[in-house]
Amino acid sequence: MLYAIKANILHFPKTTLVPEENYEYFENGILVIENDKIKAVGHENAILPHFPNIRVIDESGKLLVPGFIDTHLHFPQTEMIASYGEQLLEWLENYTFPTERKFEQPEYARFIADKFLNQLWSNGTTTALAYSTVHKCSAEALFEKALSKNMLMITGKTCMDRHCPDWLQDTAEQADTETRELIDKWHNHGRLKYAITPRFAPTSTVEQLQRLGNIVNDHSDVFIQTHLSENKDEIEWVKSLYPECIDYLHVYEQFGLVNERTVFGHCIHLEDHTWERLGELQSIIAFCPRSNLFLGSGLFEIAKAEEYKVPVTLASDVGAGDSFSMLRTQGEAYKVCQLQHIKLHPFKGLYMMTQGSAHALSLDHSIGNLNPGTHADFTLLDPHFNALSTLRMTSRANTPDDTLFALSMLSDERTIAGTWIAGSPVYQRPNLGDN
Ligand code: GUN
Ligand code: ZN
Repeated sequence: MLYAIKANILHFPKTTLVPEENYEYFENGILVIENDKIKAVGHENAILPHFPNIRVIDESGKLLVPGFIDTHLHFPQTEMIASYGEQLLEWLENYTFPTERKFEQPEYARFIADKFLNQLWSNGTTTALAYSTVHKCSAEALFEKALSKNMLMITGKTCMDRHCPDWLQDTAEQADTETRELIDKWHNHGRLKYAITPRFAPTSTVEQLQRLGNIVNDHSDVFIQTHLSENKDEIEWVKSLYPECIDYLHVYEQFGLVNERTVFGHCIHLEDHTWERLGELQSIIAFCPRSNLFLGSGLFEIAKAEEYKVPVTLASDVGAGDSFSMLRTQGEAYKVCQLQHIKLHPFKGLYMMTQGSAHALSLDHSIGNLNPGTHADFTLLDPHFNALSTLRMTSRANTPDDTLFALSMLSDERTIAGTWIAGSPVYQRPNLGDN
């Protein structure tokens, strides 16, 4: 199957420290798709002569970008998004654990996996690094649904064998066995990938973390995802559980759980020596601005990450994050930076949820950009999705960075006109009235 889409096309074809200078933008661009991959990208005058008679879907005026990558969120928390009044530890007790209990039922896990994927796609997200619950069947439910669309989804069964309700615990041995079974069945099956997932240091015993570290030794290409230094009470708790460790990071490092495939959610309250170590080990940070504001956790210090050369990716952290929209997450990242007198360029924001994340995860041969040969995972943004956005876009010089910036502040579910995964549409916006 060969077809093309005409739109304004924006992406970062390669890895860069200055996305604001290294983007590629084609006004009246053409993206050629052959089966599940991108065949060509460029200006219509350069591309169309090579593909006579190709079917062109005309989306002129819309902005086509690579599908967004959300590097940290919790699929079982979809239904408890926007739950009132608590900071991290009470929020976990009062809302999260009771909700996650429901996923012991495979039928329920499949029901929410469906809702979750539809939320991702209708927000332009085509790859996610998602936590499942402690129940093996929850990870299976998400893998099965993602596989049916040939999606690059990364998840793992959450491991937690202490300091949480009995009815939501596994054991060290069960975490070990089930994680290995899931890796054998799902990792690299189609485009799926596995992430070893200890929830966070306080909810795993030493034995559990040791066993998970052994799995990393046996499977060097799986991902690892967990939380690090999100909330001050959490950090004090970790100190009391591991008084011998120099910092929170060291708890994970001593068990072999810290490498360049580890994605740490949050990293709000870090000392310089921890930043330095993260830079040495090239572990990846998931910056979750909406969650950090929602739970009152604190402000992520992007300047430190840059100083110590730690890769930073952008993430929603639903359900502590209060939106599935990566565009609106970028908008909130901008505000978190503003509070520190730092200007987050809109291209840097987009980079942190496309090519930057893909490169950090060593997946940029497949996702994150629109280079020929990569998978055709992309989304189509409509800058004229309502009366206000139309007014904003038409009354000011609209360069692609200005358009993107305004969308990161104003967008809602009408902004996403369509989302494609592996060359096929997975979401198409219902028709809008006139704006
Ligand atoms: N720390 C441990 N578990 C969680 C979780 O589910 N969400 C957030 N934001 N932080 C956590
Ligand atoms: Zn989280």
